[in-house]
Amino acid sequence: MSFACFLWVILQSLVVVVVVYATAENGCYKSIISFGDSLADTGNLKQLSSLHNLDFPFFRPPYGENFLDQSTGRCSDGRLIIDFLAEGLGLPLVPPFVHEIDIASDFVKFRQGVNYAVAGATALNSSVLEAMGIVNLVTNSSLGVQLDWFKESLPYICGNVSDCRKFIGGSLILMGEIGGNDYNFPILAGSPMDEIKPLVPLVIDTIISAVNGLIEMGAQTLVVPGNFPVGCVPSYLTVCGSEKEEYDPTTGCLSRLNEFAEYHNELLQNKLYQIREVHPNVNIIYADYYNAALQIYRFPDKYGFTNGVLKACCGGGGTFNYNSSAECGMASASVCDQPDKYVNWDGLHFTEAAYRVIHNNLFQGPFTNPQFNSLCPASTAQLGVGLSSSL
Ligand SMILES: *[C@@H]1O[C@H](CO)[C@@H](O)[C@H](O)[C@H]1NC(C)=O
Ligand SMILES: *[C@@H]1O[C@H](CO)[C@@H](O)[C@H](O)[C@H]1NC(C)=O
Ligand SMILES: *[C@@H]1O[C@H](CO)[C@@H](O)[C@H](O)[C@H]1NC(C)=O
Ligand SMILES: *[C@@H]1O[C@H](CO)[C@@H](O)[C@H](O)[C@H]1NC(C)=O
Repeated sequence: MSFACFLWVILQSLVVVVVVYATAENGCYKSIISFGDSLADTGNLKQLSSLHNLDFPFFRPPYGENFLDQSTGRCSDGRLIIDFLAEGLGLPLVPPFVHEIDIASDFVKFRQGVNYAVAGATALNSSVLEAMGIVNLVTNSSLGVQLDWFKESLPYICGNVSDCRKFIGGSLILMGEIGGNDYNFPILAGSPMDEIKPLVPLVIDTIISAVNGLIEMGAQTLVVPGNFPVGCVPSYLTVCGSEKEEYDPTTGCLSRLNEFAEYHNELLQNKLYQIREVHPNVNIIYADYYNAALQIYRFPDKYGFTNGVLKACCGGGGTFNYNSSAECGMASASVCDQPDKYVNWDGLHFTEAAYRVIHNNLFQGPFTNPQFNSLCPASTAQLGVGLSSSL
């Protein structure tokens, strides 16, 4: 039985939905609704893989070693951007949607946040990617699948259509980051760039139609992130690096890959301008992950990343401490002593320390457009205060 089917059977068997309204923790948003990939997944792939008996190294220690309760499920040593965002807004950490559903009241916790992001997810669905020869061995829970889960679960979370419009309208919606994996799989498989570039408009269209769909359902505030400077990521530096490649002299990052990420981001922002013109009353916030992260590569000492910016904390050796046959979580890999001095955790994902800086650069700093603070000034007062106990 596929998961979608499994979930649906359970949903059908729920009879009563107890409607209890979540109270707003601050003046801005009553909840966070998230879609995306490993940058935002707080436990969905872990649940899916246990349902499907799949085993991934990133659900074993040392993953999660610096997380609040050391649990695994996130692709880092600790918290992600979405966790810092929830804390800053005074909301509970956003629980993964995929979970053992026993009783209707399980859905009550989703009124203050629900996360549909799945590590490994792509924007394009698996049939489109497979037709292009791109195989995703991690998950088929693409953005479209996540949106289907959202629509199917909505009545159980918020009740009837008009109440759900209110729920969606009062939520901060994180649309991504998504799309990075559509490129990761072919880039890491060694496909040439001119074969990967035509994917970009397709990926952007998929993200944009998701945004438009959510606006139709009542969304008032959406954060749409762009891609990170992937040319600075240890796995890419290892797989794509060569004497023929051009490296940015100030950062040591691969120019070709960073330019590719910027190309994606430009197309995305152009489309977001168009949506803002059509829906001037909806807050469409572009989150400039690229430049928020690039600050770290430019000024690592300023942020305390003294143990290297391009080398992973956890890995199987080599120049960038990345070895695809000895990945973090496998017995053949080892972990550094001070992850908070490293930018990169496992060759692909950031450390908690880097995610904290990126979060601050975005949501307290200048790297969202329009600036997040200007829409939600109350949130800044609470940033960094208290940890949520609702995990
Ligand atoms: C995959 O996406 C394509 C293009 O958006 C769409 O035509 C197709 O119906 C989708 N397939 C599935 C199985 O969702
Ligand atoms: C994705 O779907 C294909 C069929 O389209 C299936 O063969 C494959 O096992 C699925 N992959 C995962 C990770 O579920
Ligand atoms: C939706 O449910 C609320 C109770 O939560 C009720 O007051 C309202 O009348 C309902 N609206 C519709 C259109 O059924
Ligand atoms: C990568 O890891 C494998 C397995 O531990 C090992 O055999 C190989 O020598 C490593 N490669 C490099 C370049 O370190």
